Amino acid sequence: ESARKEGYPHFMLKEIHEQPRVIGDTIFGFSKDYEAAASTLASSGNIFITAAGTSFHASLYFSLLTARLAGKKVIPFISSEYESYANLANKEDVLVAVSQSGETIDTLMALRSFKERGCKIISLTNVIGSVISRESHLPVYMKAGPEIGVAATKTFTTQLTALTWLSSLVSFYTGKIGRDELSEIKGRIMKLPDLATRTISRSEGWARRLSQVISSRHSVYYLGRGLGLPIALEGALKLKEIAYVHAEGYPAGESKHGPIALVEPGFPVVFVSIEKNLERKLVGNIEEMKARGAFTIGIFGEQSELVSRVDERIIVPSSDELLLPVLETIPLQLLAYYAAVAKGYDPDKPRNLAKTVTVE
Ligand code: AGP
Repeated sequence: ESARKEGYPHFMLKEIHEQPRVIGDTIFGFSKDYEAAASTLASSGNIFITAAGTSFHASLYFSLLTARLAGKKVIPFISSEYESYANLANKEDVLVAVSQSGETIDTLMALRSFKERGCKIISLTNVIGSVISRESHLPVYMKAGPEIGVAATKTFTTQLTALTWLSSLVSFYTGKIGRDELSEIKGRIMKLPDLATRTISRSEGWARRLSQVISSRHSVYYLGRGLGLPIALEGALKLKEIAYVHAEGYPAGESKHGPIALVEPGFPVVFVSIEKNLERKLVGNIEEMKARGAFTIGIFGEQSELVSRVDERIIVPSSDELLLPVLETIPLQLLAYYAAVAKGYDPDKPRNLAKTVTVE
């Protein structure tokens, strides 16, 4: 086992560090299948997207991004809730099933019920030949390689990468952007491996230091707006999964409708900012938290105007809103990892969790 960890103390840390390479592999693997999936989506009726856990956060991101890039409505739902959505589906509709393992029973049940209603099924998985990919009409894949750590890391950032490309292709097939713009986007996505490498080296010390604060707290909020929301949700999930610190991800604007009641001096609140034009509103949310004595932490891109507004920050090396979701995920993964290690837990084997959930 120690050989397979290649010198890293845990698989999770190894897998975080593998991200630049496997994101590159995923980009290299953008095949004709992605084009077929996107052209199907562009000409479909309703689009639904379903997944569980981390894969759901990637799905929510796809829904938000596709609305922005292609002006297409994508209805995201958590797979175990499929009964509430399946009766809305018709023959012209498409379901996108997202699952790194391709074996999650909730997602498979959602897939089957939409398929029975005549919907076309597109899947995004990391495992060729997995049941979800076999049962879908159009399987596409990320190329993250096997993920051993129970907490999804590299499979999430490769899902984001794959779904950014899929969304851009939908925008092309709906006529929103032309071929030149599509290749320009591809060029931007291709910068991710290098930027991810730089983000990791920038975040290591920061995450180690801040994990000392986070690991001693009972509760942490992760707030974001727009494309920042799925990343905030993912940051919170990682922390609670492996460091057993209660963490909630919330839309920043919604925090004053309840969650703020818990905030007292020293309560950590992590702000994830992706979209420049939402920063003005995020300032208000930061101030609300600071007024209650919160310890504010920012995850920002270059050129963010929020840098001086928070107590602690990490700035990832880009200001490109298409790339920030992947890059801003990395410091959140490392923060959760070091918080778990600081508390003496094994981040690879969190209690009560299985890598693949095969019971409904
Ligand atoms: C992620 O860290 C979790 N362990 C979990 O939420 C996971 O994402 C979920 O069970 C879905 O798995 P899948 O992607 O294999 O379908």
